[in-house]
Amino acid sequence: MTGVRRSASTWEADADLVVIGGGVAGLTAARTASLLGLRVLTLSKGGPTDTATQYAQGGIAVVGDIDDTEDAHAADTIAAGAGLCDPEAVKSIVGAGRHAVGILTDLGAVFDQGGDGAVLRTREGGHSTRRIIHAGGDATGAEVQRALGAAGMPVLFGAAAARVVASVDGVQGVIALSDNGFGVIHAPAVLLATGGFGQLYACSTNPAGATADGIGLALSAGAMVADLEFVQFHPTVLFAAGGLGRRPLISEAVRGEGARLVDATGAGVTEGVHPLGDLAPRDVVSKAIAERMRATGTDHVYLDARGIGGFAKRFPTITTSCREAGIDPRHDLIPVAPAAHYQCGGVVTDLYGRTDVPGLYAAGEVARTGLHGANRLASNSLLEGLVIGERAGAAAAERREVRAEVLDTVLSPQPVLPRAQVQQAMTAHAGVVRDGAGLDLATAELAHAAGSVPGDIAALEDSALTVTAQALVLAARLRTESRGCHTRADYPDADDSQRRSIAVRLTTDGVLAATDPRLAGVL
Ligand code: FAD
Ligand code: SIN
Repeated sequence: MTGVRRSASTWEADADLVVIGGGVAGLTAARTASLLGLRVLTLSKGGPTDTATQYAQGGIAVVGDIDDTEDAHAADTIAAGAGLCDPEAVKSIVGAGRHAVGILTDLGAVFDQGGDGAVLRTREGGHSTRRIIHAGGDATGAEVQRALGAAGMPVLFGAAAARVVASVDGVQGVIALSDNGFGVIHAPAVLLATGGFGQLYACSTNPAGATADGIGLALSAGAMVADLEFVQFHPTVLFAAGGLGRRPLISEAVRGEGARLVDATGAGVTEGVHPLGDLAPRDVVSKAIAERMRATGTDHVYLDARGIGGFAKRFPTITTSCREAGIDPRHDLIPVAPAAHYQCGGVVTDLYGRTDVPGLYAAGEVARTGLHGANRLASNSLLEGLVIGERAGAAAAERREVRAEVLDTVLSPQPVLPRAQVQQAMTAHAGVVRDGAGLDLATAELAHAAGSVPGDIAALEDSALTVTAQALVLAARLRTESRGCHTRADYPDADDSQRRSIAVRLTTDGVLAATDPRLAGVL
């Protein structure tokens, strides 16, 4: 590939650990590493609340003292994950839940309590019991973000990581773009905590900055990613004709408190589909909605929450979103449709956030620990961000004695397509239900990407979106079965011989290469 090479050297800094991201995973890791005495530099390309964490509604899945066990939480997680969870990862992360939430409450996070002072728990899809703690009714993420922010970790806002530099000795640092232009941070350890990739799609619950940056950074640093084809589409996102970009979520907890999914005739959407009905795992509910929309020729269904007493008090955020759209949930049906919500796969890590590149760590939504498998169980992601964020922040201390120096300060040309084109291809051909012909079309459209050197944050994001879309479609084409939240119309059943993760890497020639599930895989 040819193109201009940009020297990135207008400013320099040193750190023991660079944390990229200021959400639940990044702030947790930064705090842990600082407590261990590491010099931590945290970058966030947005402002303090431009995170998915800020928007989390339903809550945090964590086992309480009554009527629940870690084994039951693990079993629900594994059932949702449709054969691809790593049972060790599930046990380890679920088992660390109380400790992780304890740190948050020590930092001042306040979770909703009943009149008797006991923490309230709600239920969401795929959970066999009420185990989800929440804050501010449906503003759990805002409380998590507030409590971690108040811990006082310094963050360089408005600064984006453009490249993680790695040599044969592992990570050497980061090339970043701040208000002062491109600069270099020399550091032996870098943690990717960049969140998800919802902006691959035209409609998403994710904030504007959820542009797959961590996947792009990991691939170009030589790390392995996996399970990218498992995109979770949340079943109930507020529908508006022509509504694009970030769309308001109607939390699954609304169904947990009794709301029903109905079509325009009032008929139930999930009846006879799954024993848990409207509270079946998300992939099941999203597929049932997609099927009903197809059968009735419509672009949305409805959530009937009129029977929930005290709706505005229990769900203040959702009430505001509905009112802004002219809907009163006490009297009106809420129009909803599935939209891109969560990346179940990501950068492959162990249970301490280590990737296969020495010194490169990942935690939170960007990481693939094996907890989620082919479909994440609701409210397991804040939990994972807290648990692996803390462990990765501690693990980075193992690189403290490594002397790191970034010598190669150029940004090479990257394949880039305009964001709207990526979103169009992904939305049309890699949505809730895919097929081989559509994925072939997406592959062809994404192959039009031309090499260019990103000069600003938007261009960096477009380049990450492009390579991630290419990797995702590659994996989705290879997975000729339906499993979890990857549904192929041309292969409607699960195929046991494909019960294996598909991993993708960027070769030294700049080509994406995947392991095939029919071959002996690396995972
Ligand atoms: P984020 O919180 O998204 O933070 C990412 C950070 O990385 C941001 O600071 C961003 O600016 C920064 N960043 C990205 N790229 C770069 C770059 N190149 N350079 C510098 N900085 C960069 N999960 C639950 O468990 N329970 C829920 O109830 C729940 N509800 C949700 C509701 C909504 C509407 C959404 C969108 C998600 C919800 N989730 C929920 C999922 C959960 O919120 C996220 O998975 C989780 O918060 C991700 O945390 P994170 O730290 O990995 O990333
Ligand atoms: C929701 O509140 O429905 C979202 C929960 C999640 O994504 O975990």
